[in-house]
Amino acid sequence: MTVPTLLSTSGLKQDFVDRLLAEAANFTEVLSRPIPVVPALRGTTVAMMFFENSTRTRISFELAARRLSAEVVSFTAPTSSVTKGESLRDTAETLAHMGANALVVRHAAAGVPEAMSRWVNLPVINAGDGRHEHPTQALIDLFTVSRHIPKVSGLRLTIVGDIENSRVARSNIWLFSGLGAQVTLVAPGTLLPAAVDSWPVRTTGDLDSILPETDVLMLLRIQRERGAGARLPSMREFQMRFGIDERRAALLPDGALILHPGPMNRDIEISPAVARRDNVLVGEQVANGVAVRMAVLYMLLAGGDDD
Ligand code: CP
Repeated sequence: MTVPTLLSTSGLKQDFVDRLLAEAANFTEVLSRPIPVVPALRGTTVAMMFFENSTRTRISFELAARRLSAEVVSFTAPTSSVTKGESLRDTAETLAHMGANALVVRHAAAGVPEAMSRWVNLPVINAGDGRHEHPTQALIDLFTVSRHIPKVSGLRLTIVGDIENSRVARSNIWLFSGLGAQVTLVAPGTLLPAAVDSWPVRTTGDLDSILPETDVLMLLRIQRERGAGARLPSMREFQMRFGIDERRAALLPDGALILHPGPMNRDIEISPAVARRDNVLVGEQVANGVAVRMAVLYMLLAGGDDD
């Protein structure tokens, strides 16, 4: 039997997504209980392999595994034998030999989770690999949107900011466009990837004109750690052209939602006043992260899903 993985949102089947959203809704109910724990993964061990920093993804995966009664072991590169020259393959195989039942992998290089899924016969979940993909963040975003706007087909999703460096943008583009949403990217030309012409999106540099035609606005930070700052005249210039302030937020239709995967840079992509608005769902996204990651772990480790 094929070992299930979650490496990308590209090609995810509607049945899988529908079931995942239903499981996440079930786990949201579990998380509202006085004792928010179920025995679904008792006896299993989930290894967190984070080679790159994280707050939301790492902690919510740990909570998700614990809420399912799994054991969690945490690997961090700076305190590991990677610092002595151990390879990624030997590191993954070492955790597999110790009895880990699944690997949750974040790495600054694209393709590392996929490589690990070939090296070990275990479910591997991509927790963010370079600029490539962050599938669980996109599933969280979809779940969060679906709680407010149930029909994704035809939904108008606008993604604004550093598209070039964003794995969140890529995973959301594949997921939402695959479900029939209409995706528009808004960014300076220097922060759009060369391949964008072949993506299922339209692009514009005119944010004000697209806001009235937007149901869901997704904001992205400038990833200075990946060199994005050097592609802009200045942060001030980016904020003036692409930042969401009160004036721009008022251009959105009634009922439009604003998402941000975090971490937010207030006063650059979003003003502090807009960040406090009721239609900004950043807190909901973070809260939903635990339930959605419970659903992912459950489906891959206990659900017999081989898609
Ligand atoms: N959204 C997200 O991936 O956040 P972290 O980098 O804090 O995990």
